[in-house]
Amino acid sequence: MAELVLVRGDITEQEVDAVVNAANSTLLGGGGVDGAIHRKGGPEILAACRELRATEYPDGLPTGKAVATSAGKLPARWVIHTVGPVYSAREDRSALLASCYRESLRVADELGARTVAFPAVSTGVYGWPMDDGARLAIETARAADTAVEQIRFVLFSADAYDTFAAHLR
Ligand code: APR
Repeated sequence: MAELVLVRGDITEQEVDAVVNAANSTLLGGGGVDGAIHRKGGPEILAACRELRATEYPDGLPTGKAVATSAGKLPARWVIHTVGPVYSAREDRSALLASCYRESLRVADELGARTVAFPAVSTGVYGWPMDDGARLAIETARAADTAVEQIRFVLFSADAYDTFAAHLR
């Protein structure tokens, strides 16, 4: 059972084995976490993502899946890119969001990562309500069968931090 830790701050500053990126299926960058990771991590990460598009993922990374690259200049060894679902009020996409956390931990185990930092996937541009996003993140992390020792949720706002803390209790 991994230790679940909450941190208020910037995911690009976390000194962990693997940092999880809230990517989109192109893997070619964007705003939010994706923008920050590419900006701080440098061109090496984008080059590795381009290589993935040219080989394993010619059509892009499907929603709910995860794939690792080097971390460039970030204080981490790897970036695990995962694509969250866009929130929909009509269609329940919870299983896809849970899959982001589960698949990222599976990739972390393949790498031998012992500490993993997650953002609140899908709760920004992709519009997922923070409370439900926090609940899904914590439930999935708690239920995960993983060798990861520390799962760190890195929250960018006090609101997000408080919401996660409420679910952690
Ligand atoms: N560190 C930690 N958390 C952050 C950071 C950061 N540097 N920047 C943003 N966040 C928070 C947001 O406040 C939000 O709560 O991460 C959460 C996820 O937000 P997004 O980064 O917008 O990710 P997501 O909602 O999954 O949307 C993904 O946005 O940036 C594009 O290319 C990305 O198309 C993809 C989409």
